[in-house]
Amino acid sequence: MFFPDYRARRMRASETLRRMMQETRLTTDDFILPLFAINGKDIKNPIESMPGQFHLSIDHIVKTVKEARDLNIPAVMIFGIPDKKDALGTSAYAKNGIVQRAVKEVKNKVPDITVITDVCLCQYTDHGHCGIPDKKKIDNDASLDLLARTAVSHAEAGADMVAPSDMMDGRVAEIREELDEKGFEDIPIMSYAVKYCSAYYGPFRSAADSAPKFGDRRTYQMDPANSREAIREATMDVEEGADIIMVKPALSYLDIISSVRQEIDLPIAAYNVSGEYAMIKAADKMGWIDGTKVMMETLTSIKRAGADMILTYFAIEAAKVLNG
Ligand code: PBG
Ligand code: ZN
Repeated sequence: MFFPDYRARRMRASETLRRMMQETRLTTDDFILPLFAINGKDIKNPIESMPGQFHLSIDHIVKTVKEARDLNIPAVMIFGIPDKKDALGTSAYAKNGIVQRAVKEVKNKVPDITVITDVCLCQYTDHGHCGIPDKKKIDNDASLDLLARTAVSHAEAGADMVAPSDMMDGRVAEIREELDEKGFEDIPIMSYAVKYCSAYYGPFRSAADSAPKFGDRRTYQMDPANSREAIREATMDVEEGADIIMVKPALSYLDIISSVRQEIDLPIAAYNVSGEYAMIKAADKMGWIDGTKVMMETLTSIKRAGADMILTYFAIEAAKVLNG
């Protein structure tokens, strides 16, 4: 059908028609809110590179989780900022580590929200890598046991789901095996399966003080130029027992979200990362864009590309818009 028989504008003529024609609709159920937990009491320190985001002591984590729950956001993702770092990242899997205590308290005070934990070593290691180095190389196999230990310690604290973000090969299988062995066969794994080596993580790394102290992450995170490799990474994690496959970052990788959606039948999560958040906040502050509208457009595009869920620092702000 072509003009003048077909007129595309006919179906855009009124608010009600536009509502009827809408193909993609965001809901608060799409969001997962990432949070940064820090030791101490009554601490709410603004993260400079991520306006509107904070380092929160556990009492404030609980408050924010309640706010998210009341806005109908189904899940949060907890990151930890530890007091101490060492070569083996021991505070990542300590029984009384910051994430473990935050999870325990949140599950205690706000049982009706899903608590996911980020499983990685980079915030906890003095070298800032996601795995354990042997000389200057990241030793894949030597890192697996510590990652699995971290995941189990989160489950023991009460986490509802674990999300390994390290990009070591074989870690999903190792985590699945250890969880099962400890009786956590019902705890799902959201795998950061397709994680690119991205400069968009910059604001997060200053927030979490997790930038590598030598080298970079190119030997374990993916080359932004690659898309076929995304399917191999995702397939590998499906085979190893992942329950949700994540693509990260989101905005520069909408094509990847779309192809992973077509190739993989598991739920797909997309991580709208710190740099994507910071750019919108900065341009909005300058008066160059309408930050609220760009936020909603961005989140809609991620869902339209095929994401079933979106990890986003905008979760609370966007939920407020959706809830009117
Ligand atoms: C650590 C981790 C990173 C992010 C989530 N987990 C940073 C990195 O890999 O360097 C990035 C999150 C963001 O930028 O919002 N493994
Ligand atoms: Zn890491």
